[in-house]
Amino acid sequence: MDLVKIELSEKEMPTRWYNVLSDMRVPMSPPLHPGTLQPLGPADLAPLFPMALIMQEVSQDRYIDIPEELQQIYRMWRPSPLFRAHRLEKALDTPAKIYYKYEGGSPAGSHKLNTAVAQAFYNKQEGITKLTTETGAGQWGSALALGCQFFGIELKVYMVKVSYHQKPYRRILMETWGAQVTASPSQDTNAGRQVLAQNPENPGSLGTAISEAVEDAATHDDTHYSLGSVLNHVLLHQTVIGQEAKLQMEKAGDYPDIIVGCIGGGSNFAGLLMPFIPDKVKGKNVRIVCAEPEACPSLTKGLYRYDFGDTIGLTPLLKMYTLGHTFTPPRIHAGGLRYHGMAPIICHLYDQKLIEATAVHQNATFEAAVSFARSEGIVPAPEPAHALRVAMDEALKCRESGEKKTILVGLSGHGHFDLGAYDEYLSGNLPDYSYPRELVEEALTHVPQVPEK
Ligand SMILES: Cc1ncc(COP(=O)(O)O)c(C=O)c1O
Repeated sequence: MDLVKIELSEKEMPTRWYNVLSDMRVPMSPPLHPGTLQPLGPADLAPLFPMALIMQEVSQDRYIDIPEELQQIYRMWRPSPLFRAHRLEKALDTPAKIYYKYEGGSPAGSHKLNTAVAQAFYNKQEGITKLTTETGAGQWGSALALGCQFFGIELKVYMVKVSYHQKPYRRILMETWGAQVTASPSQDTNAGRQVLAQNPENPGSLGTAISEAVEDAATHDDTHYSLGSVLNHVLLHQTVIGQEAKLQMEKAGDYPDIIVGCIGGGSNFAGLLMPFIPDKVKGKNVRIVCAEPEACPSLTKGLYRYDFGDTIGLTPLLKMYTLGHTFTPPRIHAGGLRYHGMAPIICHLYDQKLIEATAVHQNATFEAAVSFARSEGIVPAPEPAHALRVAMDEALKCRESGEKKTILVGLSGHGHFDLGAYDEYLSGNLPDYSYPRELVEEALTHVPQVPEK
């Protein structure tokens, strides 16, 4: 019998997060204080984050225990299933084996809940009563709304204005779980007012929404800030995905030749790929490929530089592949992939040539999403549809070469709130857009120069 779902029991769920920093041969460049340009210390982050998360951010320990109370919550949707895409393989007429790790079965519909509940838990432990955050497509905001609801914490979400209007149902979901949602740029913060003064029609960006959420938290004593991607501790929480996937592949008697995932800030893919890095470092022949949009090509066209995480320049400087923090993304439908930078861990792995990157257009992405939906049933979110495009292209190459490669792809969420985007694709109204390299060079002239050591 050919297995379709490779499942783990609750007892097999990981009880520790895996910290890839412990296996890095070359250390990462530290985040810098934007004023002094010196490495940040834990105290610099204390106005925004609870100390437990700050210690995870800088930890070099190989494993960090998942508290029992959190494991109990994780068990509501974890372990998540690994599927073998038999029907898709048949539709593509490929000898390749395609597996997908599906995170869309969480109540919030994506991987984001894995870190949302962890962040709410540690903030609650430190006595915090209110969090602020930003959200693009609304996936992260809705996950954190539920995380905060579980732990009795208030939440204010700054939602990128274009998504606020394109995706009213995500806003309603956040409100259903008790969050207050504001379209960003807003009049509620200095950062928002500054952006609106320059252009009242500004559609918003994740960078601006981060500026607003950070300012709000930094100016209120009872309030902390929470980020859904990019930072080390967020990626750490997502490693439950890859640890499970590794065990599931083992149960299937298989090991991936290629691992593919989409990257917005880097968290879902890092969570999937990082547990495979020790094997790769030891010489295992596995290709790890990041999929990003042509319209927001942080790795494939960005420059590896220190840059701000937000638009206004309130956050620490992070060494990352960046399109420049003033980048206002084109209105593509993968709202979660429109961030100007990338997780420093992903950037470091890319710089060390442990992972590769490729950029795809949104029409090709939706074409893959629709054929996936028609064969496997699940309607993917536009973000992981980028990964499906790349995985399906690899499977099609196998059709040409006759190779029986094993492909593992991260399916980070479902697209039930993205049907407007599907509608535009199906009616032929979706534009393709390549972000020009010249604009990156121009944007980065405004970034503080940090002397290379
Ligand atoms: C379903 C889904 N996948 C992927 C992403 C991209 O974020 P990250 O790269 O942090 O996983 C998002 C962001 O909102 C998302 O909602």
